[in-house]
Parts: sequence; structure tokens; C-alpha cells
Amino acid sequence: MSIAQSPASVHVRAPGKINVYLGVGGRHEDGYHALATVFQAVSLYEDVIATAADDFSLSIAGSSGAGDGGPSDVPVDDRNLAMRAAKLLAGATGFAGGVHLELRKSVPVAGGMGGGSADAAAALVACDALWGTGLSTQRLHELAARLGADVPFALHGGTAVGTGRGDHLNPALARGRFDWVLVTSEHGLSTPEVYARLDSHRAESGALADDPPLSLDVPIPVLQALRSGDPHSLAASMFNDLEVSALLQCPALDDIISEGLRAGALSGIVSGSGPTIAFLCENPESAQYVQTQLQDAGRSALHVHGPVPGARIMS
Ligand code: C5P
Repeated sequence: MSIAQSPASVHVRAPGKINVYLGVGGRHEDGYHALATVFQAVSLYEDVIATAADDFSLSIAGSSGAGDGGPSDVPVDDRNLAMRAAKLLAGATGFAGGVHLELRKSVPVAGGMGGGSADAAAALVACDALWGTGLSTQRLHELAARLGADVPFALHGGTAVGTGRGDHLNPALARGRFDWVLVTSEHGLSTPEVYARLDSHRAESGALADDPPLSLDVPIPVLQALRSGDPHSLAASMFNDLEVSALLQCPALDDIISEGLRAGALSGIVSGSGPTIAFLCENPESAQYVQTQLQDAGRSALHVHGPVPGARIMS
């Protein structure tokens, strides 16, 4: 008879995301804003390797020196969302041991693409497998939502509508594949600051006649465009309420959007709270061309596609 053994280590991969649509409503008492968003997981991944250990520790592969806005700026203590995820799972299941987490980061740090949320989702799945705690998808989702509004989506992947704080997910039908070119910026933007800037901008400019709503929906044309698989329709309906405040924090982002459109992208928007800019392109060839043009202009440009699956065990 064979006895099931816990693995010595587990490798989980989770994707970064683009908000194809991001509508922001009013601010709840807990400080979070009402959202109606469409997430799409894209082929840019965070890898987390969880290794059995007596206590909790974390390291980041590929760090290149402090203060460069890259992985070396990511904390390795309890401020790290993956560390918090591991400890939350241990607490929720009564697991008495620890784990060493190694993060291999590819999603831009503080780029508005949910890299930290992907780390947390991957850490939950990896520790659950490593420790044999065997939580249901539903239970993992509940823990994910406690870690951050974008963490449930990193578990889920694909294309999904997020409401509430962005953590109430429903799958969205999306046909085919969409090609995106991402332009990353050297310096990240703080998500809370971008939300706060939107509130003050709305108050000062009288942009909204009434108080922002506390419940919103994704407009039907966005969902229709995803279902049709037609990048032209999607380009026409992409929108991000946080764009105005990201541009106020970082006006140079407007130049990047203009450059991408000139190079032939169908549309360009700030991804999430920025500063990453996501360009939707007609097809892979067009995306390749847009990427090359932007790189020739000195930009850091990546060609990715979506949708891709959520957090999954690689080995
Ligand atoms: O949940 P997460 O840690 O990703 O959120 C980071 C910050 O973004 C929050 O502290 C809050 O300031 C802002 N936020 C918000 N409304 C949301 C999601 C995030 O105001 N629905």
C-alpha cells in the first residue's frame, strides 16, 4: 500500500491582469470604492515556489538592487501579500508549520496589473497543495477576497466581471484571443493615491451631478464586444474611470498613449490604477509592429495575449 506523501515543494503560476473596463462609483465607509470592472488575465505571470519549512520566510528571485521600481522594491516581510496569504491559510486551517516562498516576478511592480495579487493567489494555491489542507475553490476564494480586491480574480483567471469592491466575480464570455501591447513605466503609482485623486478631482470639477453610485454595472457593449471576439468593438468600448487621476499624477502617460495609437494600436488605456498602458491591437502581427515601434522610441513594451487561466499548479 502506498502512503500519500506531501510534496517537498510546489510551483504555482498566476497571471497579471488588464482591466478592459473599470467604472468607479462612490466610496464605502471602509474606504473601498464600488466598482464595475472587466478583468482579463494576460500571458505575463508570477511564479511562486513554496517549499516546506518550520517557519515563514520569503525571497524574491531576480532582484536588481533597491529603489529601481522593480522586484527589489517588493517587501519580503509581513507587508508582502504572498506572505500574508500563507499566514492567513495557516490560521484558517490550523496548520502548525511554515513555508518558504520564492517569488519569480514578471508582472510590473506597482504597475496596475495585479502582480502582488497574483503572488497572493499563487501562494494560497501552493501552500494548500504543499500542506495538504485541501480547501475548496469557494473557501480559497473567500480567503483571497480577504487579502485584496483583485486576488480572487488572479485565482479565477480568464475574463470576468467584477462588482462590489471588484471581488464579486462572474465569468464573462470572451471569444478567441485578444492581443495587447503593454508599456511599463519605471516608477509605479500608488493605488490608494490614484483612487483618492479621483475622489478629489470629482469633487473639485463637479464632474458628477449627483453623488457617485454605490452599485454599478458594466455597460452591455463591453460584454457584447468580448463575446464577439472583435477587437475593433472592444477598442471602441474600453474605458477606465481611474485614467483621469493616473494622468493627473503622471501626465507623461498621455504621450505614451498617443505614440501607441500612432503606431497602429486600436485603443490604449491606463491599466487599473496605472501607470502601465495597455494597447489593444488588431492581431498578433499588428501587436508585434506596435511593440517594435514603441521599443524603437525607447519604451519598455511587451506583447501579451488574453485570456489565460488563473493560478495553477505547474509541478
Ligand atoms: O484591495 P487592494 O489592496 O488591491 O486595494 C488597494 C487600495 O486601492 C485600497 O486600499 C483602496 O485605497 C483602493 N481601492 C478602492 N476600491 C476598490 C479597490 C481598491 O478604493 N474597490
